[in-house]
Amino acid sequence: MLSISNLHAAYGKVEVLHGISLDVPKGKLVTLIGSNGAGKTTTMRAISGMLRPKAGNVTLDGKDITGLDSHRIARAGLAHSPEGRRVFSTMSVTDNLLLGAFPRFTRARPKGDVKHDLEKAMELFPRLKERQHQLAGTLSGGEQQMLAMARAVMLNPEVILLDEPSMGLAPILVEEVFRIITRLKAEGVTMLLVEQFAAAALNVADYGYVLENGRISVHGPAASLKTDPKVIAAYLGGAH
Ligand SMILES: Nc1ncnc2c1ncn2[C@@H]1O[C@H](COP(=O)(O)OP(=O)(O)O)[C@@H](O)[C@H]1O
Ligand SMILES: [Mg+2]
Repeated sequence: MLSISNLHAAYGKVEVLHGISLDVPKGKLVTLIGSNGAGKTTTMRAISGMLRPKAGNVTLDGKDITGLDSHRIARAGLAHSPEGRRVFSTMSVTDNLLLGAFPRFTRARPKGDVKHDLEKAMELFPRLKERQHQLAGTLSGGEQQMLAMARAVMLNPEVILLDEPSMGLAPILVEEVFRIITRLKAEGVTMLLVEQFAAAALNVADYGYVLENGRISVHGPAASLKTDPKVIAAYLGGAH
């Protein structure tokens, strides 16, 4: 399980996270909801080592991973599918996926059956299978987003951080992303999900946290957040 306690993070002198605590229990899907600029991406970065926290603790299965380099955190079993389309554009789809499995070749992670997992990832993301030999840079934006997600899955991690996997996608691809998240959940994958579609995120999640200006304002089972009048007013109104 992933556990964050009293996490503070800053860009230069400007503190953005003012002491966040949250838990992602094994096998659960937890969502982090909040307006633009609330600090969701910063939270993900501070967990995965892209940004060194100023204070607080991050533990993964009881192991303190606070402030480690991101590659060491990946080796400890935490995969981060970052916001935006971060793929290696001059490498093929297959090679991008194998790169996601790289820590498994260093004995830092259980190696398992990488070939089998590659086939499984292709099956989970059929669009990637069709394009496995293409250079990642030639994929559409939506497909690149899926590739970033699939690459995180290839680590065979203890926990996956998904930062806005549906951002900028056409509605049909948004549905596909949620279908994939639901399938990963059914397979017991532990996930922390940040999503602009708060209602959809609460529909698939077990538990949710609301982040406001770098602080958790409300948290609870997803089902009860969905019916919380304040959450509805602030995040679930309008078209969702
Ligand atoms: N690289 C950065 N340098 C300085 N400030 C940043 C940087 N990234 C984000 N911020 C600021 O930190 C705050 C939180 O941003 P972010 O974590 O991206 O929010 P969210 O993902 O919830 O939209 C915002 O005020 C944003 O302007
Ligand atoms: Mg963000």
